[in-house]
Amino acid sequence: MKLATIGTSKITDSFLEAVKETGRMTYEAAYSRVEEKAKSFSERHGGKLWFTSISELALSNEIDVVYVATPNGLHFEQVKALLAGGKHVICEKPIFSTMNELNQAFRLSEQHHVFLFEAIRNIQTPIFKRLKEELLRAGKIRSAVLQLIQYSSRYDLFLQGHVTNIFSPEFAGGALEDIGVYPLYVAVTLFGAPDDAAYYPVKLPNGIDGSGTLILRYDGFVCTVLCSKIAHSDAPSEIHGEKGTFSINNPSNISGLYWTDAHSKEKKLIAENIADNDMIYEIAHFADVIENRDVEEYQRMKELSREVLRVMEKARKQNGILFPNDRV
Ligand SMILES: NC(=O)c1ccc[n+]([C@@H]2O[C@H](COP(=O)([O-])OP(=O)(O)OC[C@H]3O[C@@H](n4cnc5c(N)ncnc54)[C@H](OP(=O)(O)O)[C@@H]3O)[C@@H](O)[C@H]2O)c1
Repeated sequence: MKLATIGTSKITDSFLEAVKETGRMTYEAAYSRVEEKAKSFSERHGGKLWFTSISELALSNEIDVVYVATPNGLHFEQVKALLAGGKHVICEKPIFSTMNELNQAFRLSEQHHVFLFEAIRNIQTPIFKRLKEELLRAGKIRSAVLQLIQYSSRYDLFLQGHVTNIFSPEFAGGALEDIGVYPLYVAVTLFGAPDDAAYYPVKLPNGIDGSGTLILRYDGFVCTVLCSKIAHSDAPSEIHGEKGTFSINNPSNISGLYWTDAHSKEKKLIAENIADNDMIYEIAHFADVIENRDVEEYQRMKELSREVLRVMEKARKQNGILFPNDRV
């Protein structure tokens, strides 16, 4: 499978290092708005081609699949062009800002017989899959607190008056979109779509959520998702069942999974992550689905993207956090 990339930041470097590790795709080309950057990025990762036009990349016969890692607010237009050109697309989280965009993009991917994936690496890791397999052991779940509270150096810039993409409504940023999406994916993958959701954001002066608490109501329990880019916490995330508690260190980079028995209070390590770069798992998964045309698994992934985006769109609109893409 011949791969191209859009976006030349650190996350695309990490993705390509993982691609090399898996050996499942061959890197061919980079796109950048700046030709010199496109050329040097492509060459640095062993690519032979570079583009400064997304429509030319979309129509290139040299490319099968494109990884998109640009500011969230740009995903939709870029992905649409790629799908229309017959390319499979792996788009970074959060895939889009609205259900309308998601539905349009999935329709387009069907018309062109290509796959469209949201790159959400945490749910593809073996350690997360182990948690999913073991969940029944907890008995009736009675509460869950999933948190990602990570101070961003870009907040320092924000405080100095420089608004980077991730703190900008213009580019569909904010704490929920940027990092709340990881614990929300954990919740939806483990517990399904919530019966109801309410978001309580802490807004910055430009109206974006610097942090927030998302309450997901399920039959018999409530799952609380905490996300922040303006404070720091090392506290674990926990799922509390009547028989015991699962805890993970961090819902985006799960390195340890623990079990505490409710009666004995004994705490045990169940599994550890061994990969340095956990993007290898999502890449292998996307390659498997494409190569085997695994429609059943693809439908499952699409449904997860739908349920997560449904909650995120509702959560921000409840609070008047509006993006230009809301007009699409
Ligand atoms: N999976 C993960 O662990 C992970 C981690 C970080 C980020 N992400 C996701 O990856 C995506 C990119 O995040 P990021 O923080 O890397 O974003 P970023 O640094 O703001 O931008 C990424 C790339 O997009 C292009 N770009 C930036 N501003 C643009 C603009 N105004 N117009 C057109 N293109 C622009 C740039 O490429 P050129 O200058 O070469 O055109 C840049 O290298 C987001 O969706 C984010 O959620 C995922």
